[in-house]
Amino acid sequence: MPKTPHRTALITGASAGLGAEYAHQLAAPGTNLILVARRMDRLEELARELREKHDVTVETLQADLSTSDGIQRVERRIAETATLDLLVNNAGFSGGPGSFAERDAADHLNMVQVHVVATVRLTRAALPGMIARGRGAVINLASIAAFSPFSGPMYSGTKAFLVMFSENLHGELKDKGIFVQALCPGMTHTEFHEVADIDEAIVPKFFWMTAEEVVRISLRRLGRGAICVPGWKNKVVAFLMRCPLTLAGVRAVGRSHIVRKKVDR
Ligand SMILES: NC(=O)c1ccc[n+]([C@@H]2O[C@H](COP(=O)([O-])OP(=O)(O)OC[C@H]3O[C@@H](n4cnc5c(N)ncnc54)[C@H](OP(=O)(O)O)[C@@H]3O)[C@@H](O)[C@H]2O)c1
Repeated sequence: MPKTPHRTALITGASAGLGAEYAHQLAAPGTNLILVARRMDRLEELARELREKHDVTVETLQADLSTSDGIQRVERRIAETATLDLLVNNAGFSGGPGSFAERDAADHLNMVQVHVVATVRLTRAALPGMIARGRGAVINLASIAAFSPFSGPMYSGTKAFLVMFSENLHGELKDKGIFVQALCPGMTHTEFHEVADIDEAIVPKFFWMTAEEVVRISLRRLGRGAICVPGWKNKVVAFLMRCPLTLAGVRAVGRSHIVRKKVDR
């Protein structure tokens, strides 16, 4: 990517966590922003702070990306924004407890809608303008769960889609001056686990990263390969997850009495 800041970035899921952090780090060097989420009060507060601190233009847009109407509102805004040169498809959530068969089919389809359908539609909406201008980038928030057989069929499945989608799209677009990144963080301190009612203590502190570190690496690596796994610990974990021996080992540990007691608590 050129060293100059992006002109305008649209960030989904900007009301918290990694999305809000992208907004901070992009606004600092002067990128104008369009912030998207359902919680308008949060977006407005963040927009006010960024305008005051960095003298940038910040628009807010309320949209529920689990609905077709919500996605369409964002598509329209993208089409109207002639200076858009960065799209961050960040909105997402974890399905929370319960097996695939126990949870409602509607929950699964909501996740497909937010992680997959919204990303495909918003990316498709943004690309014609970026291609015509010969510059642009798309960051898709995947996860190291994309490589994991332990993170739930829907969460891992939708994130794995984002990795392959991004990698293939990157190949199609790199000669046109457009870069695509699938960012694959591991455990990151945001509101993500609280929203899903997941006990953060299950994963040792050693493995956690801050949203600030993750976003800094993502922006630094943009344009240098389609898949970005931030931090060496996550790289090791992502590698090990694909090893058949690890799979057998983790399953054996997962069946052990001590671990079951800790997870069920
Ligand atoms: N934190 C981690 O450990 C971790 C690890 C790997 C990957 N990720 C991925 O990183 C991304 C950001 O997660 P985070 O950790 O920053 O979580 P977070 O703090 O819970 O933030 C999630 C964001 O997504 C938005 N969102 C959720 N559902 C939405 C919907 N239906 N329509 C529009 N916006 C919606 C939320 O906004 P509203 O509620 O205001 O709509 C919020 O701004 C997700 O895609 C997640 O899968 C996170």
